Amino acid sequence: MFIRAERIETLPPYLFAEIDNKVQKAIEQGMEIIKLGIGDPDQPTPDHIITKAIKAIREPKNHQYPSYAGLPTFRQAVSQYYDKRFGVNLSAEKEVVSLIGSKEGIAHVSFCYVNPNDLVLVPDPGYPVYSIGSMFAGGEPYKMPLLKENNYLPDLDSIPEYIAKAAKIMFLNYPNNPTGAVATKEFFEKVVKFAKDNKIIVCHDAAYCDIGLDGYKPMSFLETPGAKDVGIEFGSLSKTYNMTGWRVGYAVGNKDIIESLGLIKTNIDSGIFQPLQYAAAEALSQEQACVEEMTKIYQHRRDLVVDTLNKLGWNLEKPKATFYVWAPVPKGYTSQSFATLLLEKAGVVVTPGVGFGKYGEGYFRISLTVDNEKLIKAMNRIEQQLGDNYCK
Ligand code: MLT
Repeated sequence: MFIRAERIETLPPYLFAEIDNKVQKAIEQGMEIIKLGIGDPDQPTPDHIITKAIKAIREPKNHQYPSYAGLPTFRQAVSQYYDKRFGVNLSAEKEVVSLIGSKEGIAHVSFCYVNPNDLVLVPDPGYPVYSIGSMFAGGEPYKMPLLKENNYLPDLDSIPEYIAKAAKIMFLNYPNNPTGAVATKEFFEKVVKFAKDNKIIVCHDAAYCDIGLDGYKPMSFLETPGAKDVGIEFGSLSKTYNMTGWRVGYAVGNKDIIESLGLIKTNIDSGIFQPLQYAAAEALSQEQACVEEMTKIYQHRRDLVVDTLNKLGWNLEKPKATFYVWAPVPKGYTSQSFATLLLEKAGVVVTPGVGFGKYGEGYFRISLTVDNEKLIKAMNRIEQQLGDNYCK
């Protein structure tokens, strides 16, 4: 009866909502499902963070509207975390803004800088919200392929000059979802030069930058000389502290861009519930033992999955970061048909690579966010489906 706006009508289905629908159907048919689809940590939020939230929620003064850009306590905690973790200096007042989860800021930043038909450079495969946010603002995503032969980094030299000159924003994401790839210092230096030469804003999504494995410590884009002149970084408490449902994130970096994001937020939302900001400040400012423990868990799960797949005939390297394993589908399958086979015949949910863009075709993603018992069961079921030497 009501005609939807074109921007909604032309949207592709949201990847993770679509997977949820398929899973729901399988559950209704009586299947016992193991979900390795969305990257939603299974571990609980650490206790000290919950205790802080409970204390803060009992304070009536925390029940009113929060400040739009974030409490000073939260913003200072973010700034101190950047100093301690990366040696990056940030003004809590001008270079940090709170977000209702980083997804919110990723979607909104295009509204600040993208006019209808402007180009936005987005990685493919990539988190769908980079493209969706730019399309909502009327812009056009220009896909930068992330290919294995280039270590899943975009090849900036292959972007035609007229595209580079016309683009307003470039989204990047390292450690990378879905591929698990990490960026080098040299790559980030190249990005800064490219952005300066072409007057492009860099929006770096660093949601996984504390999920380094085997002792590897991923870097922040803002550690790169000149990065703050050209861009911002999105951070999230979701993956680092098992807080996906709490919706706490932030953007940091270039003060003009942070101010613009703040302007959007003032006009369309009212900030994060204050007790959650106090809890998040606690998470960022305390010892990070819980993060170390959690990365050990992911490391063990990664080894379990990669070793099993390699035994079955894959030839995967172990990702140095994130809780994802990105693997090619066996011969004869598309990413969608393989994911469907695993769901319908094995009751295992994986994410089809094509859901992250056309360059994700031929791959599937396993999220290491279930316990060992379920993971072993899932790998056994996959093995049973594939039979011997399926992939060799
Ligand atoms: C993913 O599975 O790619 C992410 O968890 C989705 C999200 O962070 O919204």
